Amino acid sequence: MDASLTRLTLTRPDDWHLHVRSGSLLKSVIAHSARQFARAIVMPNLKPPVTTVAQALQYREEILSALPAESNFQPLMTLYLTADTPPTQIQQAAESEHVYAIKLYPAGATTNSAAGVGDIRAVYPLFETMQRYQLPLLIHGEVTGEQYDIFDREKLFVDNHLSEIVRQFPELRLVVEHLTTADAVQFVSAAGPNVAATITPQHLLYNRNALLAGGIRPHYYCLPVLKREQHRQTLLAAATSGNPKFFLGTDSAPHPTHLKENACGCAGCYSAHAALELYAEAFEQARALDKLEGFASFYGADFYRLPRNTDRITLQKQTWTVPDRYGEGEASITPLRAGEQLTWQLENA
Ligand code: DOR
Ligand code: ZN
Repeated sequence: MDASLTRLTLTRPDDWHLHVRSGSLLKSVIAHSARQFARAIVMPNLKPPVTTVAQALQYREEILSALPAESNFQPLMTLYLTADTPPTQIQQAAESEHVYAIKLYPAGATTNSAAGVGDIRAVYPLFETMQRYQLPLLIHGEVTGEQYDIFDREKLFVDNHLSEIVRQFPELRLVVEHLTTADAVQFVSAAGPNVAATITPQHLLYNRNALLAGGIRPHYYCLPVLKREQHRQTLLAAATSGNPKFFLGTDSAPHPTHLKENACGCAGCYSAHAALELYAEAFEQARALDKLEGFASFYGADFYRLPRNTDRITLQKQTWTVPDRYGEGEASITPLRAGEQLTWQLENA
């Protein structure tokens, strides 16, 4: 790739893993995603969670009405799986033109996951239904429980659950969300074409030193937590490999600043304000900007069996400073890289 590249034009990308919340937080974040992405898979971990197609359709309407007037952004909805989800909801989801996947949160794994699944084997009959309807299952892949070290939880999930799920449901379309370890990369790489994964910008750019060395930086705290450098390098290699199993999912997860800068800070990095710019930085570091379009704009759409976008966006080499915050008062959000410089910028943004 030309080292002096100053403009990069890509097919418009999509975000295959996004939290936009509701109410005032939704209103302050949605335009950030809409300015760069055509579509996003919207996570259902609201309070209360989005567990039915009817709730998902209502949530979709709320998102559409929070969009800037001229926006064509399409929220692709998901349902939050619980032990009580009736198989008929899975069928309805598969038949709905607006619901694209079911999300599995192990109970207690992360933000608003209390209503998630305690005993994963107990929902195998629902996986069977998803397999039958070819409806993708999106997995937060971490074991839960005091006895498990926070840095080991993803690997343990791969070993204790994912291998078994894939064995039992060989045709199930599955996305392992926000990979953070070499173990998970290896698992996804070795699995069939029905198993794919998303990777966030923070896991491509940072290791756990960003969170913990020289002071604790709560805006780098997300789940699964940042891991050691060797894992970051494996993730970067996977994202830039051109392997269509790995695609863009920001996991942008806004929390009000006062709940992040807190004795018990919430998990989640807000990256929607500069998502593509952050990915471009990571791909440039790996000298793989030529691989960004596949990762950001093609492979996710292909996996979800949706048409690729046809319009284009341009990034330019232009240094800018990320604002210290977005939004006001109680809904004020501190973005990833607040007050720091980025070297790529979306044109006409
Ligand atoms: O860091 C995270 N934040 N990880 C998740 O899995 C959920 C997300 C959120 O909703 O805040
Ligand atoms: Zn998430």
